[in-house]
Amino acid sequence: MRIRRAGLGDLPGVARVLVDTWRATYRGVVPEAFLEELSYEGQAKRWAQRLKTPTWPGRLFVAESESGEVVGFAAFGPDRASGFPGYTAELWAIYVLPAWQGKGLGRALFQEGVRLLRAEGHGRMLVWVLKENLQGRGFYERLGGVLLGEREIALGGAKLWEVAYGFDLGEQKW
Ligand code: ACO
Repeated sequence: MRIRRAGLGDLPGVARVLVDTWRATYRGVVPEAFLEELSYEGQAKRWAQRLKTPTWPGRLFVAESESGEVVGFAAFGPDRASGFPGYTAELWAIYVLPAWQGKGLGRALFQEGVRLLRAEGHGRMLVWVLKENLQGRGFYERLGGVLLGEREIALGGAKLWEVAYGFDLGEQKW
């Protein structure tokens, strides 16, 4: 098992993890039509556009199995205007294929991202997660996230609530 920065060749794997894990996690939460419209090709294209843009501020990591399969990914970047002072960085997305969950990959992806963000001078990071996503919330709480607030978002024609968790990157626990 290996965590490393993603390259263009990883993007079909990233797309598969995203689509499969979104469907497994958000069925019954996010509108069905939205989940059905997700596609491997569409997601691979979107991530390729990002990675090929020199000014894209994201940092994309993958978790690779021993056989070289991408089984998880995480994307970090600058805070997207959340309004919480001091939170300069954000965990944009973290997904591990259902069959690979609970084996430490989420924590390892989180740790790698935090290490880079610290080195880049960030002191605090936040993450937005759907309020109903108790699995994701349990993970962030286990990693010491502090509940900061909530907001309503529109997704696939539905209105959903998200909550934010904050992490002090000065703490050496990751
Ligand atoms: N409740 C309590 N503790 C949890 C939970 C939970 N739901 N999930 C994980 N943990 C704990 C583990 O027990 C472990 O604790 P330990 O290291 O002290 O033993 C620690 O958190 C790390 O667990 P991992 O095995 O590394 O977690 P995993 O590899 O399953 O990754 C993740 C976590 C990314 C949430 C994964 O389960 C997943 O992809 N879930 C579905 C998608 C999802 O919810 N993604 C986040 C959406 S929000 C966003 O992307 C910004």
